[in-house]
Amino acid sequence: MTFPHRHLIDIAEYSRDDIMLMLETAASFKEVNERRIKQVPTLKGATIVNMFNEPSTRTRSSFEIAEKRLSANSLNFGGSSTSTVKGESLSDTVETLCAYKIDMIIVRDKHAGVPRKIADLSGVHVIDAGDGKHQHPTQALLDLYSIWEEKGSFEGLNVGIVGDIAHSRVCGSLLPALKIMGANTVAIAPPTLLPARPDVLGADEVSSDLDAVLPDLDVVYMLRVQRERLEGAPFPSLREYNLLYGLTQKRDALMKPDAIVCHPGPINRGVELDSFMADHPERSVILDQVYAGILVRMAALYLLLGGSNDGIDAQ
Ligand code: CP
Repeated sequence: MTFPHRHLIDIAEYSRDDIMLMLETAASFKEVNERRIKQVPTLKGATIVNMFNEPSTRTRSSFEIAEKRLSANSLNFGGSSTSTVKGESLSDTVETLCAYKIDMIIVRDKHAGVPRKIADLSGVHVIDAGDGKHQHPTQALLDLYSIWEEKGSFEGLNVGIVGDIAHSRVCGSLLPALKIMGANTVAIAPPTLLPARPDVLGADEVSSDLDAVLPDLDVVYMLRVQRERLEGAPFPSLREYNLLYGLTQKRDALMKPDAIVCHPGPINRGVELDSFMADHPERSVILDQVYAGILVRMAALYLLLGGSNDGIDAQ
């Protein structure tokens, strides 16, 4: 089987079949992650550079674990410890790394478009681990995986994405991914946290009234208020934001009995999500999303790098 993509940069380039294969491959790696020795030799000999030029807990750690579980060699690189602080250009940095005969670069960067530029410069496989306000495709895949596990399918599912739509690369990948998979999408945000032209989002509906929309949602996806990207004062205070757009205990009563709550992390508790909802034993799938991060990243590495099946079916 040959996967029809070299890179994972723009989720909109993937078809429904490509995404379904990714999710099914992720599911097949669950068994490996439950073994005593959680490692298979499928990517033995591959060299992967994790270039994180912005902070990360979940994405970075889960990529590193995924690489180790597939027996790839990893180089962790990026940020203020590199010669970019001495003025080295991105293209010289990438040329240098490629001189080591690497196979893949996984990149997080504050500038939108850096993963595509690296793909054009390098000729090696590239995965976007979050670029500026643009995309975060493996986050979308792990979100889809978690929703699929809970709900069984996407067709006709009502998914609300709530919060800082304008600054969210998570939303930049998740909205198109949900559309590709056949879900109905609602973008819910204060007018000041929507793009100037909300129609460009591609959501089926756009609303600024969370309480009006909440009773129809099967999945309530809360976005982090990205304080590091806010300019000006898009809302009067964090308390006011929580009152109008936070998923509070009070709003539990407005939700469908089987509605689930997702969040990409890190959470601003008491701002977009109260602890009651973040830790809700029936509704919250946030830690399932974290675990799905390992599974979908193993799947992405395996499919893009053409891994062997060695050890996967062996036990
Ligand atoms: N969801 C996410 O990208 O988290 P990190 O910034 O911790 O990687």
